[in-house]
Amino acid sequence: MCGIVAYIGPREAYPIILKGLKRLEYRGYDSAGVALLNHGLKIYKKKGKVADLEESLIGKDLQANAGIGHTRWATHGEPNDRNAHPHSSASGKLAMIHNGIIENYAQLKVELTKKGYQFKSDTDTEVLLNFIEDIQKNNGCELEEALRIALKRVVGAYVIVLLDREHPDTIIAARKGSPLVIGIGKGEHFLASDASPIIEYTKEVVYVNDYELAIIKRDELILKNLGNEKITPYIQKLDLELTAIEKGGYDFFMLKEIFEQPDTIFDCLRGRLDVTKGTITMAGVQNNIEQLKNANRIIIIACGTSWHAGLVAEYVIEELCRIPVEVEYASEFRYRNPVIQKGDVILAISQSGETADTIVAIERAKEQGAFIFGVVNVVGSSIARISNAGAYTHAGPEIGVASTKAFTAQLVVLTMIALKLAMEKKTIDQDRYTHLINELHNVPEKVREVLQAHQYIQELAEKYKNAKDALYLGRGYNFPVALEGALKLKEISYIHAEGYPAAEMKHGPIALVDESLPVVFVATRDSYHEKIVSNIQEIKARKGKVIAVISEGDEIIPKLANDVIVVPEADELIAPMIGTIPLQLLACYIGIAKGYDVDKPRNLAKSVTVE
Ligand code: G6P
Repeated sequence: MCGIVAYIGPREAYPIILKGLKRLEYRGYDSAGVALLNHGLKIYKKKGKVADLEESLIGKDLQANAGIGHTRWATHGEPNDRNAHPHSSASGKLAMIHNGIIENYAQLKVELTKKGYQFKSDTDTEVLLNFIEDIQKNNGCELEEALRIALKRVVGAYVIVLLDREHPDTIIAARKGSPLVIGIGKGEHFLASDASPIIEYTKEVVYVNDYELAIIKRDELILKNLGNEKITPYIQKLDLELTAIEKGGYDFFMLKEIFEQPDTIFDCLRGRLDVTKGTITMAGVQNNIEQLKNANRIIIIACGTSWHAGLVAEYVIEELCRIPVEVEYASEFRYRNPVIQKGDVILAISQSGETADTIVAIERAKEQGAFIFGVVNVVGSSIARISNAGAYTHAGPEIGVASTKAFTAQLVVLTMIALKLAMEKKTIDQDRYTHLINELHNVPEKVREVLQAHQYIQELAEKYKNAKDALYLGRGYNFPVALEGALKLKEISYIHAEGYPAAEMKHGPIALVDESLPVVFVATRDSYHEKIVSNIQEIKARKGKVIAVISEGDEIIPKLANDVIVVPEADELIAPMIGTIPLQLLACYIGIAKGYDVDKPRNLAKSVTVE
């Protein structure tokens, strides 16, 4: 988390950095700051959002052709002006921004304190900066050399970007474990955590790899490894349009992204699913088909919403392919001693492709010889690059912190993978296969239909917005949908919500039920339908308020539920892609009705690049 932007070139740096920080605010918004180089080094920083920083700088002399900027998601040190980045070194000569965590900062701090260093902030960043400066002072070397020496001692993850008052023509950056993209313009360079601050200036980018250092001047980009050997930068062309990262008339990115889903799902299917020929084309699967279809076991690793997509995939893959599947939280997997055997395939799911726990979990599995297949949204991201093979979800940039369109795209990709493997393994018959690919083909239209009910869902949001708690229940394929619905509600409306398997609620959550508790049932028609009707009865008998997502034509549940949201009928394997939509809308409208900024929920960040 944390967003970083930097610029060096003939233009005014401040407006470019400010705009870039606004685009990266999804990565953190506890505080923001800039350091500008022009006849000296000026640092401005402020607690709060980028707009607060902007306001505080009105009337200031911000002229500079080189600068760095940061928007923070606090790890070490509470969010305040003091702990905001950029930090300045003890001598005031250097300024630095940092995304990541320096795990051995406490030890470095002790060493520096013994040498007489004092610290203005509580951050690990300031410790690292002074550590670098101390090395430079002691060795009488250039900053680049000092940085290289320092990084060999650093434990943790970082992208750092440095300005040196005495070398105003150079920006130095380094990366390990957090993302960094360099944009190459004509006589100018841009640096950022992702490409969104860069695309309106240039489409030529270089993704910096772990353990690489970048020395950047207006006309020059030098990449080196920590051994001081030069590396040829691999220049890539960005396939991203500016419109894709703007709000397009919506008040919130989250709303825009929910409403984009008919298109993003279509994009995800496009060029892959051919209903007339009955084929699914996925090069990443096809090129590794033996490895995948012969997998003894598939271990899915992911975090947050992506983990929920993994749970749906578990049900779908086991049903269609008869391969055992386990779904693991990346943060747990990486720290235990999991048994990985020959023939195990890791399916890593991530929107950002930068989630630190997922990256490390992949590395651990790779060390043990597992084959890694990545399902990732952000093209060129770390997970996309470290996977042996993969498939992009093609949902486009997702900026709202709570994931929506990336989730449905993940479900689509995972279902296509399962169908393709099932066909190869002959664990599905032709009729079922044909039926399911037709069902997939129809998802964008069905999602469009659900979205038409937005006003009604907004009314429901008004009705339930003052709830203190909520329970979300589902069975089978709809159980992960219930989990995802509950997660969306707590993330953006701060209402405590729990997702549970509908039958399991009898073993605990039912004790919470009274007339004040809304219970959301994901109860579209499937093989468990009668069972879930009984569960609804159980809640009604205890006076809970039932809101049910049901299929068209259901005549039973409307008689029981307080409110129903009707969605088009779909095969139970496909239903999660549709049943999720009203839950996203409900959470989003409740958050908005309560006056919250649903794009930037408190304490959260979109891309969790710290463990
Ligand atoms: C954060 C985001 C979630 C996301 C999770 C996993 O918590 O706020 O929306 O689901 O990280 O992120 P990933 O990018 O790996 O899918």
